[in-house]
Amino acid sequence: MMQRTIPVRLKRVVNRSYAVRVEVGIVDSLPEFFRRNWGRRRIFIITDTNVGRLYGRRLLRALSLSGLDASMLDFPAGEESKNAAVVFALHSQLLGLGIRRDSCIVALGGGVVGDVAGFVAATVLRGISFIQVPTTLLAQVDSSVGGKVGIDHPKGKNLIGAFHQPVAVFVDPAVLKTLPVTEFKNGLAEMVKIAAAVDKRLFGRIERRAGVIRRGNERLLGSLLVRAIELKAAVVEKDEFDAGLRAVLNFGHTLAHAIEASSGYSIKHGAAVAMGMASEARIAMRMGLLRESDFKRLLLVMRALGLPVKFPRITSRPKFLFALSADKKASGNRLKFTLLKGIGHAVVGVEVPTPFILELLNGSR
Ligand SMILES: NC(=O)c1ccc[n+]([C@@H]2O[C@H](COP(=O)([O-])OP(=O)(O)OC[C@H]3O[C@@H](n4cnc5c(N)ncnc54)[C@H](O)[C@@H]3O)[C@@H](O)[C@H]2O)c1
Ligand SMILES: [Zn+2]
Repeated sequence: MMQRTIPVRLKRVVNRSYAVRVEVGIVDSLPEFFRRNWGRRRIFIITDTNVGRLYGRRLLRALSLSGLDASMLDFPAGEESKNAAVVFALHSQLLGLGIRRDSCIVALGGGVVGDVAGFVAATVLRGISFIQVPTTLLAQVDSSVGGKVGIDHPKGKNLIGAFHQPVAVFVDPAVLKTLPVTEFKNGLAEMVKIAAAVDKRLFGRIERRAGVIRRGNERLLGSLLVRAIELKAAVVEKDEFDAGLRAVLNFGHTLAHAIEASSGYSIKHGAAVAMGMASEARIAMRMGLLRESDFKRLLLVMRALGLPVKFPRITSRPKFLFALSADKKASGNRLKFTLLKGIGHAVVGVEVPTPFILELLNGSR
């Protein structure tokens, strides 16, 4: 039989770079952005029920008043909505409304909206443009930049997804005013994470101003956000598809994922990350990787920000260990941690001997 090998030579020639704009009140300038860049193409805002009520309707009205062709779709707020049924319902509504390849989706909301709307944008008509307008601190500091979008599966969180970068990100610190305190703290946990992992100067700034940050000072938050986003962008630029280096952002997250899962997701991501960071730092100290003084510094900052640092009581050990092993499978059958060597210096791919994990669990009883 004839045999041939036919090469399919693909080169990425599209420039998918984008800008993240941080400015108080920037949500109000979206109509102007669309008028300049989008012309008569259609805009679909996707949001959740809370954010739709707080900011979505106002944005929709402003876009319409500017003569733009905009519609809004929402789904019930909360992690429970990050599923295939919600995504499929959004697909159906968008197709029903006549979405086209040149339309644009605006993800207006927290990390859940960003992940769901981003995944819808990545999949509808094989992928269309989308814009992130993050409205929680967590989404502003972390999830809206980097292009990871997706949903949960009964087998675990974020198991179905894609890499789909937004075409622009608009970060408005003013919307944080309406954010519940617990949600605000969830975002602070991710801010501490990135500082502790890669930037000791940012960590120092957070350390010195913890009290003011906690009270939600808009200007200070804005400037810390800018730095945190710059750091995230730099990591994403070096490792867009999570081939290795991006794992520095996983500090605190290996334990956090297991804490979230074994609590049946009653402990939210940000809180779990705070607990995970404290415990992973303790492990790093016990392994002789991190100085005790740095460990104490980290704990002090987290306490000053009102973040939980105690490893939670694990009601089901098997569930916890199973969740940890799920992370292990995902990374080639080895349980790898991202641990701190110092403040602002995380190292990836550290194997942690089991006794250290058991020590944590025993301490939590
Ligand atoms: N894609 C990524 O890179 C990435 C990174 C980190 C986290 N995530 C995902 O992000 C999700 C968590 O995101 P989250 O913490 O933003 O939760 P969320 O999106 O559920 O928002 C939290 C709550 O705050 C409400 N809300 C949002 N903005 C508000 C505002 N300005 N005022 C008042 N209420 C507001 C929401 O309606 C919701 O009830 C998780 O699913 C996590 O997996 C993704
Ligand atoms: Zn996180």
